[in-house]
Amino acid sequence: MSNGPGPERPLARADWRQMVVIGAIASALGIAAGLLINWFPVAASREAKPIDTLWDVLIICSVPVFVLVVTVVLFSVWKFRMRPGEELMDGPPIHGNTRLEIIWTAIPAIMLVALCTYAFLVLRDIEKADAGQPVQVRVVGQQFAWTFYYRVDGKEIAAPQLYVPINRQVEFTLQSKDVLHDFWVPSFRIKKDAVPGIDVKYRVTPNRLGTYAIVCAELCGLGHSTMRGFAHVLSQADYDAQLKKLAAGPAKAPPAAGAPDGKALFTSSGCNGCHTLADAGATGTVGPDLDKVLKGQTPDFIKTSIVDPNKEIAPGFSGGIMPGNFGQTLSGAEIDALVKYLSDVTKGG
Ligand code: CUA
Repeated sequence: MSNGPGPERPLARADWRQMVVIGAIASALGIAAGLLINWFPVAASREAKPIDTLWDVLIICSVPVFVLVVTVVLFSVWKFRMRPGEELMDGPPIHGNTRLEIIWTAIPAIMLVALCTYAFLVLRDIEKADAGQPVQVRVVGQQFAWTFYYRVDGKEIAAPQLYVPINRQVEFTLQSKDVLHDFWVPSFRIKKDAVPGIDVKYRVTPNRLGTYAIVCAELCGLGHSTMRGFAHVLSQADYDAQLKKLAAGPAKAPPAAGAPDGKALFTSSGCNGCHTLADAGATGTVGPDLDKVLKGQTPDFIKTSIVDPNKEIAPGFSGGIMPGNFGQTLSGAEIDALVKYLSDVTKGG
């Protein structure tokens, strides 16, 4: 058999109709699935609703485009596949189709311009500053923890968790001590990179009381997945009380509270997320097994391991994974309690 052109198998009208029907049904199913899936956690900011609507519009517009392309490809593979006896044949020669090319360039171009304009308008709208002073929070990322700084009576105080008042615009100033991180509270919907050397700002107005997850959304090293935290949206009164408490410092807490509880601190500070410690029921494997590496160590060694974790690295582990900010986010009394607890439970082992 020669390599000449094979028998022509043009797209018949019935094929066209079949392809359009399959594409339309698949698009409808795809859009329905896209809208039914719960992509985001509960909305907790004023900005969330317009963003969710934008997301739905993008699904409705992009699913048919994807389905159309996939339908044409699969339909062609099926309808124009090679039959026995056609192994050495070329297909029919292909000519351009100017009308078709203009159409498939113009429609996506118009859609893109329209969607970009819509997205731009939504973002410009939700990023507007309210009248009056926003609540200022400085957010500092480092491998692998967030620290939040609040101004109270002209003094800056640090906390390992985020506290914001409800229904007031908050302006975050994002900073990084080492590499790129990305500050994201999924329930607030907005996220931005924290870039070393520059201040990145964004505004959000939380509008639902509760505690929400904070996630680092930029791959920033081995401990990236552990770089999480909590955002608490409080009533104005609770927020004021919380800041007062932070400003007073845990050391000056009423004596009724007693000394800080080392075991509770082990969990509340997130140690259990990365370390194994039998007494606390912790089974993390990101960091060293504390039952093993702290056995027989002095309290001084344990303290240094907490406040200056990169001074000495356990064999088999890389440096720079454990957050280096516990010296700032925990009080002296809390660190002492944690050291005593760790020292006690790993002594005999
Ligand atoms: Cu910080 Cu990922």
